Amino acid sequence: MMHIIYEPERQRMAIQKSGRLHKASMDFLSARGLIFPANDRTLILPCENFDIDLLYLRDDDIPEYVRSGVADFGIVGENVLAEKGADLPIIAKMDFGRCKLVIAAPKDSRIRTPEDLGGKRIATSYPKLLSEYLAREGIEASIVPISGSTEITPELDLADAICDLVQTGSTLKAHDLVPLFTVMESQAVLIESPLKKQAKERFLSQINLKSKL
Ligand code: PRP
Ligand code: ZN
Repeated sequence: MMHIIYEPERQRMAIQKSGRLHKASMDFLSARGLIFPANDRTLILPCENFDIDLLYLRDDDIPEYVRSGVADFGIVGENVLAEKGADLPIIAKMDFGRCKLVIAAPKDSRIRTPEDLGGKRIATSYPKLLSEYLAREGIEASIVPISGSTEITPELDLADAICDLVQTGSTLKAHDLVPLFTVMESQAVLIESPLKKQAKERFLSQINLKSKL
């Protein structure tokens, strides 16, 4: 049984619990010298040699935890930040988790140009970024908000196209979907809460991350 640490001087960093960014985030922190116990499925993990705990969260929730100050730092994709927390300051770009938010359609679809999306149903967990894209292109389409597994919606006829992240492309491929238009390019970034400035600066300089932008 892991003991949860409530000491007020300890900081918290939110990272993705599982998914594309989880391992790269852990590797980044290890490379900066942070040591963590082997995870026994807990969602809060105390660092053994720095006054910081890791919170394992859904990536979509990370901006809110950081904005409220419950987490002092977060590692999250620029895509999630743009969708959910564009107002939060970025401390550093991480050079990992590079991906694209794309509109993709089934291989045999007749959608060829952005205009072909007019009147179509597009499933996405990025309704804000998708609606901004459609407005920029002057297209009226209907957005089907979905919180995950967007790639299965065309084959189930819930949508004609999807707007989702592609990193290696293997998820799209597995569902016979082809990427057509890029909505946004993204990578992982380190974000910080608006609170506890001094304590955060101390931690960042300890791990040698003062001015990495
Ligand atoms: C994204 C996206 C796809 C997958 C694509 O998930 O939703 O499922 O990555 O990667 P691929 O092109 O390498 O197959 P993410 O890790 O962002 O997690 P989430 O969507 O479950 O939050
Ligand atoms: Zn997500």
